[in-house]
Amino acid sequence: MGLIHEPDYGTKPSAATDMVSVVIDGQERRVPAGTSIMRAAAEMGTQIPKLCATDSLDAFGSCRLCLVEIEGRPGTPASCTTPVAAGMVVRTQTPQLAKLRRGVMELYISDHPLDCLTCGANGDCELQDMAGAVGLRDVRYGYEGINHCDADKDLSNPYFQFDPSKCIVCSRCVRACEEVQGTFALTIGGRGFGSHVSPGMDESFFSSECVSCGACVQACPTATLIEKSVVELGQPEHSVVTTCAYCGVGCAFKAEMRGETVVRMVPWKDGLANHGHSCVKGRFAWGYATHRDRITKPMLRDKISDPWREVSWDEAIAHVASEFRRIQASYGKGAIGGITSSRCTNEETFLVQKLIRAGFGNNNVDTCARVCHSPTGYGLSQTFGTSAGTQDFDSVEQADVILLIGANPTDGHPVFASRMKKRLREGAKLIVIDPRRIDLVRTPHVTASVHLPIRPSTNVAVLTALAHVIVTEDLVNHRFVGERCEPDAFALWAEFVALDRNSPEALAETIGVPAEDIRAVARIYAGGGNAAIYYGLGITEHSQGSTAVMALANLAMATGNVGRPGVGVNPLRGQNNVQGSCDMGSFPHELSGYRHVSTPEVRHLFESAWGTPIDPEPGLRIPNMLDAAIDGTFKGIYIQGEDIAQSDPDIRHITAGLSAMECVVVQDLFLNETAQFAHVFLPGSTFLEKNGTFTNAERRIQRVRKVMAPKNGYEDWQITQMLANALGYPMDYAHPSEIMDEIARLTPTFTGVNYEKLEREGSVQWPCNENAPHGTPIMHEAGFVRGQGRFFITEYVPTDEKVGPRFPLLLTTGRILSQYNVGAQTRRTDNTAWHQEDLLEIHPHDAEQRGIAEGHWVKLASRAGETSLRAKVTDRVAPGVVYTTFHHPMTMANVVTTDYSDWATNCPEYKVTAVQVSPSNGPTDAQRDYAALGRETRRIAGVAAE
Ligand code: SF4
Ligand code: SF4
Ligand code: SF4
Ligand code: FES
Repeated sequence: MGLIHEPDYGTKPSAATDMVSVVIDGQERRVPAGTSIMRAAAEMGTQIPKLCATDSLDAFGSCRLCLVEIEGRPGTPASCTTPVAAGMVVRTQTPQLAKLRRGVMELYISDHPLDCLTCGANGDCELQDMAGAVGLRDVRYGYEGINHCDADKDLSNPYFQFDPSKCIVCSRCVRACEEVQGTFALTIGGRGFGSHVSPGMDESFFSSECVSCGACVQACPTATLIEKSVVELGQPEHSVVTTCAYCGVGCAFKAEMRGETVVRMVPWKDGLANHGHSCVKGRFAWGYATHRDRITKPMLRDKISDPWREVSWDEAIAHVASEFRRIQASYGKGAIGGITSSRCTNEETFLVQKLIRAGFGNNNVDTCARVCHSPTGYGLSQTFGTSAGTQDFDSVEQADVILLIGANPTDGHPVFASRMKKRLREGAKLIVIDPRRIDLVRTPHVTASVHLPIRPSTNVAVLTALAHVIVTEDLVNHRFVGERCEPDAFALWAEFVALDRNSPEALAETIGVPAEDIRAVARIYAGGGNAAIYYGLGITEHSQGSTAVMALANLAMATGNVGRPGVGVNPLRGQNNVQGSCDMGSFPHELSGYRHVSTPEVRHLFESAWGTPIDPEPGLRIPNMLDAAIDGTFKGIYIQGEDIAQSDPDIRHITAGLSAMECVVVQDLFLNETAQFAHVFLPGSTFLEKNGTFTNAERRIQRVRKVMAPKNGYEDWQITQMLANALGYPMDYAHPSEIMDEIARLTPTFTGVNYEKLEREGSVQWPCNENAPHGTPIMHEAGFVRGQGRFFITEYVPTDEKVGPRFPLLLTTGRILSQYNVGAQTRRTDNTAWHQEDLLEIHPHDAEQRGIAEGHWVKLASRAGETSLRAKVTDRVAPGVVYTTFHHPMTMANVVTTDYSDWATNCPEYKVTAVQVSPSNGPTDAQRDYAALGRETRRIAGVAAE
């Protein structure tokens, strides 16, 4: 059980290394130079009264409650804004200070509704605490004068309320929005008595620029800004530290509870990925865990046209085991397989692949990372030797240049985006390479130095053109390359990129941006100090995804930007545990730690631990499983926590494959789209209902802790274990910590990882072993993991997906802040207030040509299929490019995406589809049928329609 109220030292720690001695209330203490008197006192256990200070924000000095006396100095300075000095003698409590503080409190309280007993913050209000701390007994000014006590509440935000009658105008909210979140949505409007907090230009929170991160709510010392859940449920009584189950930033949270009810999620100050910050999803969008759509009983049916039948766990598990064994007896050992989930824990993922390799006896295991970051694994392991990003998030604080390509962090990775914005406000330069004008191109106090709005599918061309400039203008870091990289591979690469056909001038037309802009980017990246690359699915989800990852690695090596803080090549991972699911051996050719199944020593290690032979041949990838199903050789699949019928490309191919199978087993929270093709539904558990670990984008392994009993009766790893036992392959883990112990025994990069260490240290970044017992924040510091870094030739090969007269526009896809992936979780929360449907962004020029106006229904057609959605006319996209999200199943965006995929990993080319857009009357027949089928499936299952 954790604390509800964590210590607040009032101001941030000083980073100085020289120490000074001070005497506070007669006690001597040595603290780093630059520490505030307030913090030095707090570290000694002396709480100086305060209201406008909190240790997540810069000191402000407005409330005048924290006054102290300093020997030899006149007056009573504020302790939050006054740094210690050597030999300083401070008194924090004297009769004069007490009188001054009481006077300040009297002014605050005279303009405050005295409804403490019925106030939502009762028990968690700093104003109340300070009234007690200063011994306030009377308010000489009375309560009758002009005041703000009748100010109206703003209830517009779905998750928190704003009650200006309780505001003490301390600016903590305004500063949190600026300093921590970087959105600048709040100001203090008016003057003097009229000063007030204002979202935007006196708008409501909902209609302002606010992105609902909640930093202001967390910072507010009163009930002015407060979670509606706290108002409704009362103050929490215990807390449990756990990890967000949404994106790959991996924010640590305190789940603040009353019994088994979550009252609120508060980002944990000691979380090393998020340092006490969060976004709207992690902080507020956890209601799906108790949503009425949750399926909590196993269900069976013989045919997918039959109604579902609720059964006991024993019957469901026995049925799956007997079906899988029947299929194997009839069609061969390789006729079944499974898919692990990047939303489940490391331990659960490890167990599913173990079940498949040891229990099924084949390597037919794959993961949803196949469709997002598999090229990252391939590209970075080829060039650097490890399938993971090189840095920790803190590294961005030392970056001088940030090259952001194919990623939209303010929507996809919001907490990291806030860190990035902070560094940019401090003066780092930003380069954005993206077909779309993402928010970071221009956002309050941040303007990109260059934005290259490249044509979708030209990543490799632009990256090779950048390399051309770096080599031909001799911007190469020869010392780094000479000492750290394979000389022959570098020489070949340098010769290749220097070819005229790879120059910006030769490629500018293909890329769609001026050559001089490409040259400018190369010069900034190579010559601007520490340069860090951050990228996302806009790099990987292409037919040349792996080539583009290698092109990024080439740039970093050529300029010496690897192996120290502030630099590196950093994939921003989509799902919470996509790094972990890859690490755990979810790919058909690799065991945990990215070791090939064909390597005899590796196989023997697992064979002796698991007591069963392992097939030396790699198994089937997801698309190959579906191909084999259509061919009649693959008949059964166990899908844990993935909705391939919505998230994977070319849905017609997916549904044809699933329909051809004899036993489809889906384990999930909700009856998802894939469950329409399932014969068995095994209800899954949420992150709040299980123990385990997730690994975030910086390789940080963090605990997930159970705060409530699973509604379905079991944690997901227990269900896999029951299935293994029913199949005759014994598993007997009592707790996920035992699974982690096995992972550590079998995986060289994890040998130092165990739950006891995670409890003690909070988190560790792999590799964590005898060479790095506390983990590895920055990779490749002394040398590359593969020995010498290897340059790869990155020949630009245009995708076969070409525009032409029938399909003249290029469609690219992405996500939006309030929704997450296929939306199964966020669509079941109040986040729908911000995004109820996927829209098609289209440039005004393209819209006008087609007679399309804002909000019109349009048909989006490709050679793969067609769907309809509403248009959003915007110049965020360039002429010739259209863009949509895929958070809603009704959109059927993946009906139009094609079956092209990355040459190395089969990662689908989601980011490039040639399309035509034309006016339409509404949803297509297929969308109506699809929606009807979904409604019918839900009706049969007895759950509410969406
Ligand atoms: S919720 Fe976040 S974005 Fe909105 S006003 Fe508060 S700090 Fe700013
Ligand atoms: S809303 Fe809260 S944090 Fe903001 S100024 Fe008012 S009391 Fe301070
Ligand atoms: S940034 Fe990602 S991990 Fe952090 S709270 Fe938001 S969704 Fe969760
Ligand atoms: S806490 Fe120091 S002036 Fe407010």
